[in-house]
Amino acid sequence: MADTLTLTDNRTGKTYEIPITDGTIRATDLKQIKAGGDDQGLATYDPAFMNTAACRSRITFIDGDKGILEYRGYPIEQLAEHSTYLETAYLIIFGELPSTTQLQQWTREITFHTMLHENIKKLMEAFQYDAHPMGVFLSTVGAFSTFYPDAKKIFDEKSRMKQIHRLIAKVPTIAAYAYRHSIGRPYVYPDNDLSFTGNFLNMLFKMTELKYQPNAVLERALDVLFILHADHEQNCSTSTMRVIGSSHADPYSAMAGAAAALYGPLHGGANEAVLRMLNEIGSVANVPAFIKRVKGGDGRLMGFGHRVYKSYDPRAKIIKQTADEVFEVTGKNPLLEIALELERIALQDEYFVTRKLYPNVDFYSGLIYQAMSFPVEMFPVLFAIPRTCGWIAQWEEMLLDQEQKIARPKQIYTGATKRQYTVLSARK
Ligand code: CMC
Repeated sequence: MADTLTLTDNRTGKTYEIPITDGTIRATDLKQIKAGGDDQGLATYDPAFMNTAACRSRITFIDGDKGILEYRGYPIEQLAEHSTYLETAYLIIFGELPSTTQLQQWTREITFHTMLHENIKKLMEAFQYDAHPMGVFLSTVGAFSTFYPDAKKIFDEKSRMKQIHRLIAKVPTIAAYAYRHSIGRPYVYPDNDLSFTGNFLNMLFKMTELKYQPNAVLERALDVLFILHADHEQNCSTSTMRVIGSSHADPYSAMAGAAAALYGPLHGGANEAVLRMLNEIGSVANVPAFIKRVKGGDGRLMGFGHRVYKSYDPRAKIIKQTADEVFEVTGKNPLLEIALELERIALQDEYFVTRKLYPNVDFYSGLIYQAMSFPVEMFPVLFAIPRTCGWIAQWEEMLLDQEQKIARPKQIYTGATKRQYTVLSARK
């Protein structure tokens, strides 16, 4: 017998059998139940999508209680240890690990697309000298839509593949140009001899040397951080990507929206907020007073808590190891002591324990980025670069999903009932 949920409507005495599939009921199955009023049928009310699945996805699996994160079935720990960002991006987009030839071809395609159109450079030059790099980043991604009008052919597989190559390849170049612009240094063109992250470091930090040589430990650390940020199923920015994409907008426009969602301090802006918070706390001695303030409802402990993880974020564990390797090269970040003390106190404090608030991916990533000489404004951009592959994979999955339509949630109207318009002179 199929799994069903039996619902009895106490108002009418009627009974309904609602099928249960994959641990969910279809919200539209509830429509057969009379709701009263205008009677469009019973609906669900779920602000912030706390308990609503909006799609079926084969990309990323998370078990928040057990602290499990897998891309296409591969545990994040194994990918962080053995894979590279570009290989992981291939896995996320195509569903399987590449063969040697496939990886070579993929790497070649990405490398060939790293350059930006000179007019994009001019466009970026128009921003104020102190423009936030994330604002520059998302505006430039949106502007791509005007440079690549072929991207509108979203149901043409070849065209989609081209935009995928372009997006993954060009986001580090945009990010680096945004950074160089903000500090008034000339743009550095991509170096195709270097790895994905090696080239990114080159475009950020090259000075007058003829050839930039990235530090191998920092290059690998950044690659690991990129693997950890590559996808995270239906979070705020990914849902935005899917929602905008569901109107059949081109992927650049959709991704500009996703990047805007990531900009917020509760999402990708959190690592920037963590650093600001640590600076504000200032010393280990001030930690207890800060925790007390947070418990009193004044602000949040940034880098703590997660909608899905109700145990230690598995990415935070890997980041802690990476931090040790980076600090060996760069020297310790002086804010680390404050972060460790915050974590130590929070993990035994009743407020945080009962609410299952643990360090998330952003708690330590900012410290690493800062030790690697990235300014805090670049932190959300460093999140957006690797998340590009996740956004694109989720966008394509949504487009090809026969069950998807233009996204359009319902509302419960709580405003005024119908009333007559009063001319201005007659209003009180
Ligand atoms: N510090 C203090 N209290 C917190 C925190 C925090 N960081 N996070 C949640 N709480 C409390 C919250 O006040 C609430 O308490 P109460 O039940 O007494 O009202 C309870 O814990 C549940 O919080 P919530 O806001 O209902 O949880 P949520 O699932 O809506 O929010 C979150 C998740 C990540 C937005 C939130 O934990 C938060 O604001 N964290 C700080 C920002 C942050 O680090 N964001 C990065 C997330 S990881 C990167 C990413 O994937 O984007």
